[in-house]
Amino acid sequence: MKKNENEFALKADDFGEDFKWGVSTAAYQIEGAYDKHDKKASIWDTFTTKKGKIYSGHHGKIATDFYHNYQQDIDLMQRMNIKNFRFSLSWARLIPDGVGKKSSHGVAFYNKVINYCLQCGITPWVTLYHWDLPQKLQDKGGWTNRSIIQWFQEYAEFCALQFGDRVKNWMVLNEPMVFTGAGYFLGVHAPGKKGMRHFIPAIHHATLCQAVGGRTLRSHVKNAYIGTTFSCSYIQAFSTHKKDILAANRANALLNRLFIEPALGLGYPTEDIAALKRITSYIMPGDDKKVIFNFDFIGVQVYTREIVKYSWWTPYLKAKLVKATDRNVATTLMDWEVYPPSICKMIEQFNAYKGVGDIIITENGSAFTDRVLNEKVYDPKRLSYLQAHLKQLRKAQILGSQVKGYFVWTFTDNFEWAEGYYPRFGLVYVDFKTQKRIIKTSGKWFANFLKSK
Ligand code: GAL
Repeated sequence: MKKNENEFALKADDFGEDFKWGVSTAAYQIEGAYDKHDKKASIWDTFTTKKGKIYSGHHGKIATDFYHNYQQDIDLMQRMNIKNFRFSLSWARLIPDGVGKKSSHGVAFYNKVINYCLQCGITPWVTLYHWDLPQKLQDKGGWTNRSIIQWFQEYAEFCALQFGDRVKNWMVLNEPMVFTGAGYFLGVHAPGKKGMRHFIPAIHHATLCQAVGGRTLRSHVKNAYIGTTFSCSYIQAFSTHKKDILAANRANALLNRLFIEPALGLGYPTEDIAALKRITSYIMPGDDKKVIFNFDFIGVQVYTREIVKYSWWTPYLKAKLVKATDRNVATTLMDWEVYPPSICKMIEQFNAYKGVGDIIITENGSAFTDRVLNEKVYDPKRLSYLQAHLKQLRKAQILGSQVKGYFVWTFTDNFEWAEGYYPRFGLVYVDFKTQKRIIKTSGKWFANFLKSK
């Protein structure tokens, strides 16, 4: 009899005894409590008030109210056998103006979260920056202002000194390509800036902060395990025409190589993207060394693949993504193609760099329409997405890559940036009116899968 293709024979233990299984979240997407105590606005608090920027005018003022529900959510994680929890710190909650006066309320909140995790046998994995820059710093230019190096260093040092006695796993930045590209070039994410004059300096300053953050954590946290995370997609050319192949190379340089290569001492991939050459006007003497940091791990975040075609009309890159919705392939609610081999390919691509140590999948997941029926949420598409990606991850291990962990994006449904609350990515369903949580079928499966550990 033909083996059922949907059968999932892997056990959590097959991935290694020390393999880290977890879930990932980000402050602005879950916390709510946007103005509690002395917290001031972040760029996302501001951006979400702008007309027409976010699906249906949604915002993160309340989100999943993790600020008040953290115990309930961590309890649920524990019940689901999840041993690692990735969350980010809100800079504006800890240092409301971005620099200077610190908030004892902010510190108290994260101490409660960290301590409760540890009490429940859950290891905290902390991201310093997941896109919610204090608005006060944006008023001074944000990522386009080179002073962000000092601002960020002060913030990183403060976090390291406050939490580093208990938090050992750190990530410096979340997806610099997305927050600079969507926030400072396309203007579709906060702070809504457009054009190369914002994008290019933001890239260089984020690259510097990536390394500065790593060094700061290294010098203040004993036995720290330090990483940073990158968005990436496996890229293939639309055809075998030379023009399409070169376009795919340029897209790969921009989307997958731009931030890792300077950190490894390889410089920016300016050979592949001519328009990037103008970054030299922001590079100061000594910066080529300052951008290097020897990360313990690289967080690889994969959701889909991209097919790339030459496009004369696209400025700078001369390449465009062929939409998945025009390709007659299975897609998620984000209109991203479901293409599990992408995770294996990207692990291999990162693993091939000399100087990359461990790889951890710090995000992977999918959004589909979920419906509650008799207090249950049956989500077979998310479940099969998860299983298919785990198979590909195991394949990458078998082929020799040092992949040491996997974090599902995400734990509960949450605020999905410009798409608001429309795409649900959670293993756990949230009724945003009542804040009631329901573990979806995928979540139950994951809990059971982890039980074998
Ligand atoms: C990532 C991001 C997350 C989440 C996810 C799903 O780019 O880091 O915050 O939104 O995508 O879209």
